[in-house]
Amino acid sequence: MVPKYKRILLKLSGEALSGEQGFGLNFDTVNSVCRAIKECVDAGAEIAIVVGGGNFWRGRTSGDMDRTRADHMGMLATTINSLALADALEQIDCPVRVQTAIAMHEIAEPYIRNKAVRHLEKGRVVVFGCGTGNPFFSTDTASALRALEIEADIIFKASMVDGVYDSDPKRNPNAVKFDTLSFMDVLNRDLKVMDSTAASLCNDNNLPILVFNLQQPENIVRAVAGENIGTIVHS
Ligand code: GTP
Repeated sequence: MVPKYKRILLKLSGEALSGEQGFGLNFDTVNSVCRAIKECVDAGAEIAIVVGGGNFWRGRTSGDMDRTRADHMGMLATTINSLALADALEQIDCPVRVQTAIAMHEIAEPYIRNKAVRHLEKGRVVVFGCGTGNPFFSTDTASALRALEIEADIIFKASMVDGVYDSDPKRNPNAVKFDTLSFMDVLNRDLKVMDSTAASLCNDNNLPILVFNLQQPENIVRAVAGENIGTIVHS
């Protein structure tokens, strides 16, 4: 496989890592995602990862909890997922470093942009934990921010949906999937691809996002190869 993109920020849905059980980590799923990532690294692609935490904790369903505290718990959830991915990658001899936006020196490196870039250049996967390290920002926004910082060519948003539709395909059997779309369409039509902070950041900085389904992990390899899957959102 010849990579179409050199440096990729892969945003993995936490929920998708829970497989059919719907909570926590399904290691069959984690391992097959990691095998696909290793295939891309072996082909010469540089892969940085931001992972969500929804398989352990969703801040927005935390009832009366203080939002900032609920988001702090979400950041810890992303770190659990980051460590699981790192472990699974190491077990298949794929070099990896975890960096967290909130310092937890005993378990991971702190986020240092130049060091992350150096790791990528050396063929290591870098997993960014704790989102942006700030409450009120989603892991989609963390993906956009980190992708811009490391000068990634594209964001891959791999989740439970196979692309962007004009309406919810679960409710509307006639929903139509887009092949390409602009960030302005996403914002103006209120399409639930990503939150508006992430969409604005990508739009303002000309950073495309490819949305595809992680339930077939080999989609990661197909996306790196430039196959026409999912929906591409651009400025
Ligand atoms: P190079 O500088 O390219 O050789 O990168 P490296 O990551 O191999 O070297 P470094 O000496 O920075 O790190 C060695 C190991 O320690 C790696 O597994 C790092 O992830 C880990 N490490 C580095 N800094 C920290 C830290 O602050 N906390 C934790 N927990 N691990 C760290």
